[in-house]
Amino acid sequence: MFDTVAKRYDLVNDVLSAGQTRLWRRAVMQAVNPAVGEKVLDLAAGTGTSSQPFYERGADVVACDFSLGMLEVGKKRLPHLNFVAGDAMNLPFADDTFDAVTISFGLRNVQDPNRALAEMYRVTKPGGRLVVCEFSRPVWKPLRKLYMEYLMKALPAVAKKISSNPDSYVYLAESIRNWPSQKALGQSIASVGWDRVTWRNLTFGIVALHIAAKPKG
Ligand SMILES: C[S@@+](CC[C@H](N)C(=O)[O-])C[C@H]1O[C@@H](n2cnc3c(N)ncnc32)[C@H](O)[C@@H]1O
Repeated sequence: MFDTVAKRYDLVNDVLSAGQTRLWRRAVMQAVNPAVGEKVLDLAAGTGTSSQPFYERGADVVACDFSLGMLEVGKKRLPHLNFVAGDAMNLPFADDTFDAVTISFGLRNVQDPNRALAEMYRVTKPGGRLVVCEFSRPVWKPLRKLYMEYLMKALPAVAKKISSNPDSYVYLAESIRNWPSQKALGQSIASVGWDRVTWRNLTFGIVALHIAAKPKG
């Protein structure tokens, strides 16, 4: 499915999120806050849009995704990035490789998110950090209701006009609805060994950033 949306993926995102994606990406960068030369894994990197800011910061970023279509578009657009094909549930990296691992708008798409969280833990160095950026639940009830309506009705309708694969946006809406709450995701993260799990709501909880650390050992 991701292979078919790759080309217009970033444009469609910007339109559907009313420009909020830029703000969310800035928050991810602040949370990861990599030092120059630090090894950062951007998992489910797609076309590399979420990896590029780490490159600009001077981090040694690996953009990993399992969709060859996404990687192909990414390599053309951002040829300087280090793209690696790999499945989040079985990462092609050794234990304790990265200073930080991050995943933006990807964990919800992985078949077994807990397995991916465990794999991210395995490849992170002791003392390293995790930042998960994912759609979540608006905290204020009336907004939550309105937002769910938008997701189920307006989003697929708008996508039909601008995307080559509108069905994938019906999937997007449904997967956001079925995704666990901030607290439940925090519990999943902790359940595979991550320490000091916290989260921060962005845009009233439409998106949440989960932050955790791998114990120093
Ligand atoms: C919505 S895109 C996010 C791309 C990018 N991180 C961003 O913020 O723009 C989700 C990505 O997750 C990838 N993905 C889904 N399941 C995956 C898995 N098991 N392993 C690696 N990548 C996966 C898809 O191929 C897709 O590129």
